[in-house]
Amino acid sequence: MATAPSYKPLVFEPGAAEEPLNALQLEILELKKRRNAVILAHNYQSGDIQRIADHLGDSLGLAYNAAEATADVILYCGVHFMAETAKIVNPSKTVLLPDMDAGCSLSDSCPADKLRAYKEKNPNLYVVAYINCSAAVKAESDVICTSGNAHKIVAKVPEDREILFVPDQNLGQWVMRQSGRKMRLWPGSCYAHVLFTAQTLTRLRDEFPGAPVVAHPECTQTVRDMADIVCSTERMVSFCKETSAESIIIATETGMIHRLQREIPSKRFIAGPTANCACNECRYMKMNTLEKMRDALLNMSPAIELPEDIRSRAELPIRRMLDWSR
Ligand code: 13P
Ligand code: SF4
Repeated sequence: MATAPSYKPLVFEPGAAEEPLNALQLEILELKKRRNAVILAHNYQSGDIQRIADHLGDSLGLAYNAAEATADVILYCGVHFMAETAKIVNPSKTVLLPDMDAGCSLSDSCPADKLRAYKEKNPNLYVVAYINCSAAVKAESDVICTSGNAHKIVAKVPEDREILFVPDQNLGQWVMRQSGRKMRLWPGSCYAHVLFTAQTLTRLRDEFPGAPVVAHPECTQTVRDMADIVCSTERMVSFCKETSAESIIIATETGMIHRLQREIPSKRFIAGPTANCACNECRYMKMNTLEKMRDALLNMSPAIELPEDIRSRAELPIRRMLDWSR
């Protein structure tokens, strides 16, 4: 018999008031002006970072924001592959990442040399790469996709080409199921999203009857199968606005709930739990802090640097994605 978890659910009640800006946030905004910078932040960043971002979004929205940025400096509060994508599409800008160690387990699961070796043994594959990969992997790919446009992108790949989908097997399975298109899947996964289980989510659903489960496609199939909607972090915002439900269970990185609370203060959000914890934070996303943002703007470092041959080869599949997904 299943044992009850040792923690209480993490519930974000409606009507939380926004804190006034603190001295460090004001200092960052002042430095931002001085450096002519724009702050991009992913939906998983902590609430204090989200509060002072110029653009907040999913990887797709932020890729467009980066491509269109006119400021001299992009301060990217997210993980390394996201800041790298910003540099690839807007190379004349200085792209700062507050902590260079903010990586991604998915990206790590597909090293470029392994992909190259696989392609050599299996020529003629059409490589669709989830944006959660390095610039060197993007340079080996035919088109990039995100969780927000994966179906659309896969549907545009010529029918006569066999697809290799890297690096997330969960997102790949989900697209395969929805589209009916067979693909070879690279065996990578997100260490955080695979920690959600159908059992812990079902228990929460019993506790909050009528609350829909919103899950990210990086979750395992059993979780995706029991979810009311599977979608990108940006689509989560519109779904939570549209649904008549007043309580919603969020099976993705817990930082997402800061964005949801700010945009939909009238609803209750319950953090998707893992077997051992009431929340689920990505250790990489949480490496960025206000202090590191301030220091990055003061020192203009750490900045993303890329060899031009990799950058230009990685730009092609990203541009193809940006065109195909408009
Ligand atoms: P989104 O593009 O849906 O925001 O996802 C990014 C990510 O890293 C999910 O773990
Ligand atoms: Fe990578 Fe997972 Fe963190 Fe997203 S949540 S950045 S996929 S490790």
